[in-house]
Amino acid sequence: MTKEQKLQYIFGAIKKAYPNRKLVFNDGSPDMPVMIIGEAPGKDEEIQGKPFVGRGGKLLNSTLETLGWKRSDFYVTNVVKYRPSDEFGGNRTPTPEEIEKFRLALEKEIEAINPKLIVILGKVAMSGLGIEGSMGANRGQVIERNGRKIIVTYHPAAILRNPNWEPQFCEDLAKIKELI
Ligand code: URA
Repeated sequence: MTKEQKLQYIFGAIKKAYPNRKLVFNDGSPDMPVMIIGEAPGKDEEIQGKPFVGRGGKLLNSTLETLGWKRSDFYVTNVVKYRPSDEFGGNRTPTPEEIEKFRLALEKEIEAINPKLIVILGKVAMSGLGIEGSMGANRGQVIERNGRKIIVTYHPAAILRNPNWEPQFCEDLAKIKELI
């Protein structure tokens, strides 16, 4: 099976499990060595059908561009593939059960892409990969797992809320070049 076929198969299984949900799967290139994993789509992503296209996505793109990358240099996905919404229709953080339900599909997606480096954005994506501990304990470290390197950094939405964390976010993403 080609990478595209494997991804189609995984997406087909997710669709079967969530037939009534609007799903957002991936963006970028499956052939690139770096996989970026976020939390879950928000409203903008649900509308456009692509991960990280809203305010957080724009911040991610501009930070990557400052470092000399373009979005298409990466494969981009989320742990949860539908938009978790609250009773008022707003975005909410995925529950531990939702994260757990997507865990196997995410593992298969990682196997299909076979990236050299995984960049984890935020705590939900950390949980999606079973990485324990706080953001503070993990960010800035290079984690080795199944022959792949993993780095953890803040979620772009956290940077929008706390702009004073932006230098660390930039510093973490700058490591991509050294690690591939
Ligand atoms: N936040 C995420 O974690 N992922 C998206 O796709 C958009 C916002």
